[in-house]
Amino acid sequence: MKQLQEKILQEGKVLSADVLKVDSFLNHQIDPQLMQAIGEEFAERFRDAGITRILTIESSGIAPAVMAGLSLGVPVVFARKRKSLTLTSSLLTAEVHSFTKGETNEISVSKDYLKQEDVVLVMDDFLANGQAALGLAAIVEEAGAELAGIGIVIEKGFQAGGKLLRDRGLRIESLAILDSLENGTVQFKQEAFTK
Ligand code: G4P
Repeated sequence: MKQLQEKILQEGKVLSADVLKVDSFLNHQIDPQLMQAIGEEFAERFRDAGITRILTIESSGIAPAVMAGLSLGVPVVFARKRKSLTLTSSLLTAEVHSFTKGETNEISVSKDYLKQEDVVLVMDDFLANGQAALGLAAIVEEAGAELAGIGIVIEKGFQAGGKLLRDRGLRIESLAILDSLENGTVQFKQEAFTK
């Protein structure tokens, strides 16, 4: 997605060969117009998949997921990383280990908001090692619902997550795929230039 790649080139900061900071539009401040365009792009890609619900994880997955939900006309559910005072009904849970942060969280979703008859689009802001996406996929499976695919705003193509998920036969749609962050420079994978 050209608009996203331009924004990454203009405002992204390469913190190291592994980490891209995009706090100005995705992870801290949010650019609503860009999020709307991102939502429409996901909606276009998954329009014919029969999606009935979007599942993401707090916090940075929520903005793009809401815009995709608006465009597809479906509700958006976000998995919680911490126990909530109001999350009192029966829960679907999964363990998510973050290699980046060196911590494991139990993520949870109420059974009220993910049903067996759902066709689910899982979404997240970043795909790095794929553990969050796998945890969300496990929650979809636990609900007995169908996983139509995984929508990612920025995939770090040099980390293991993309291959891990695609090798499982999952449909992954990433709007920007980073090939490298070496030498302080953002390099995109060629197939990310399709739009
Ligand atoms: P994984 O789920 O793909 O295995 O990812 P990992 O554990 O490595 O990532 C942990 C957190 O770090 C996630 O956010 C993820 O989005 C974020 N992250 C990973 N690589 C990058 C990067 O290069 N740039 C940025 N900006 N973030 C990255 P989180 O802790 O869940 O945060 P949030 O969603 O609450 O913002």
